[in-house]
Amino acid sequence: MSTDKYKSVTAIYPGSFDPVTNGHLDLIARGAMIFDRLIVAVAQNMDKDPLFAPAERVEMIEAATFDWKNVEADLFEGLLMDFARTRGASVILRGIRAVSDYEYELQMAMMNRKIEPQIETVFMLPGEAYSYLSSRLVKELARFKGLPKGLVPPVVEERLRAKFG
Ligand code: PNS
Repeated sequence: MSTDKYKSVTAIYPGSFDPVTNGHLDLIARGAMIFDRLIVAVAQNMDKDPLFAPAERVEMIEAATFDWKNVEADLFEGLLMDFARTRGASVILRGIRAVSDYEYELQMAMMNRKIEPQIETVFMLPGEAYSYLSSRLVKELARFKGLPKGLVPPVVEERLRAKFG
């Protein structure tokens, strides 16, 4: 463990981000305030059938976080802990919206700790206005042209319109 008096902390915020929502952005803003560098990491190897290609998801995150200079977006393939090690990260950031998220998050955090004990998972709570928001619901509503305003950044709204009209 590092005992440096002043050290720079890199955190990774991993997820599917298919697509990024304002709930994710709320968490990114909170993470960017407390970590020196925040890498939003888009998982490529998902079992789910994604709506947006991985590179497109990264582009949308880059556009939506353009003003935050300590935030970057990247793709990763394979194990999150391998990616975190190669990027020199010491923290994994995850959001918990409700109790229902907890069990899955606990399982992942404990397994990740087993794989790499030097990397800590830190949980943050998004603003309560986003506690019910998910990428899955955003896609479903957009598909039926019923997505309310203000739930996703403008760049995502545009791309959803391009897909579903
Ligand atoms: O947004 P999601 O879908 O809840 O994100 C899940 C994600 C991508 C963070 C998780 O599935 C992951 O880390 N995948 C990479 C493969 C991996 O390391 N699996 C072991 C996790 S214990």
